[in-house]
Amino acid sequence: MKLTIIGTGYVGLVTGTCFAEGGHTVICVDKDAEKVKMLQAGGMPIYEPGLEALVKENVRAGRLRFTASTQEGVEQSAVVFIAVPTPPMPDGSVDLSFIEVVSREIAGAMRAYTIVVDKSTVPVKTGEKVAETIKRYCKAKVDFDVVSNPEFLREGFAVDDFMKPDRVVIGVSSTRPVPAMKEIYAPYNAPIIVTDINSAELIKHAANSFLALKISYINAVSVLCELSGANVQEVAHGMGMDARIGRKFLDASLGFGGSCFPKDLSAFIRISESMGYKFGLLQEVQRINAEQMDRFVKKISDTLWVIKGKTLGVLGLAFKQNTDDVRMSPAIDLCQRLLKDGARLRVHDPQAMEKARPILPEATYVTDMDEVAEGCDALIIATEWPQFKKLDLERARKSLAHPIVFDGRNLFDVEEMERMGFLYKSIGRGKG
Ligand code: UDX
Repeated sequence: MKLTIIGTGYVGLVTGTCFAEGGHTVICVDKDAEKVKMLQAGGMPIYEPGLEALVKENVRAGRLRFTASTQEGVEQSAVVFIAVPTPPMPDGSVDLSFIEVVSREIAGAMRAYTIVVDKSTVPVKTGEKVAETIKRYCKAKVDFDVVSNPEFLREGFAVDDFMKPDRVVIGVSSTRPVPAMKEIYAPYNAPIIVTDINSAELIKHAANSFLALKISYINAVSVLCELSGANVQEVAHGMGMDARIGRKFLDASLGFGGSCFPKDLSAFIRISESMGYKFGLLQEVQRINAEQMDRFVKKISDTLWVIKGKTLGVLGLAFKQNTDDVRMSPAIDLCQRLLKDGARLRVHDPQAMEKARPILPEATYVTDMDEVAEGCDALIIATEWPQFKKLDLERARKSLAHPIVFDGRNLFDVEEMERMGFLYKSIGRGKG
């Protein structure tokens, strides 16, 4: 099918590329002409494993192209996806101005029946507003349907998540767009849930908030593990064997971050509030997440006594593994706190150093992860990159002025680290 994606950010680029890979003919539209030029020239605005190769392959095959013209994109496809940002407002609610502008632009460009699909994460009832806006601004007075089709992509695994989704959610207000939506997703062999638009919009916020809740739950349990001398990984394993709970998203950490969970949680709390329900449970999820970082920083300062003047090595700047994204990164937050307390930092990340540099200009950036510990008073693990597990620990122990490791991601074995002579403090494992 011929598809147009408006917004070539993270979601739009992955969606457009993976639709093309599924055999559709895709036009990706972005108002940023520089970005369009970059993509046309084979450049990539983001790092996402596997994406660059897929973009190149599909451009070469003639199934994927980029343009700055919404008019062109809308005229050429009967199905138009909206994948523009919905950033948070200072009060935690969602800024829907990009969605509104794009709805008007689509309305102005429509010349025949069009299915307008919202992929951006939006508050429940946004679909109704999009439909109202299109109706108001559509001069050609053609028929259209609005569909809600939330994305569930994890950064770092987005291509895989798109090609092999757990489910595809399609929210509609009439049956007319359903066959086309099913045809679009047919190549991906996933269960398709057809529901009303409000439910589809709620599924996204409810799912992300639940995942964040799961992390905060295990992080709260990790506190009890430290107080009692238990091991949170053993507890998570035992809990996760219950199929009703599942082991995924039970990794205790220094807290969750990124461009989705913190934003979606705040938005969901605000949406509930605006509809007359105080979602206190989710406020507690936020509180536990903030406290988890406070506890980790306190662990560092209690051990080192004074942070001022210390040189600390930090492994990890991205908000999680397999991405160069540093938005709302717990690792960056940690670095900023340590710098504020007067530490000097030697930092490394396999992908995120360029994006971190303007945010943390004071830090020393080290290309080789095994050189980070050189002359440091302690080493800190802040992101769960799998390659950090292959760190040359013997070399790190010799390089450190004091063999102290703070592990915010539980990457190493406690007994092994202690046997090697480290003072090793992780999350929720024994009294460390
Ligand atoms: C998330 C959702 O998973 C995805 O479905 C949605 O569409 C967008 O938001 P993403 O933000 O890319 O994806 O990353 P995710 O892998 O979910 O991790 C989010 C944060 O939680 C990271 O900071 C990660 O380190 C942290 N995390 C994750 C934990 O601390 N413990 C866990 O067990 C899992």
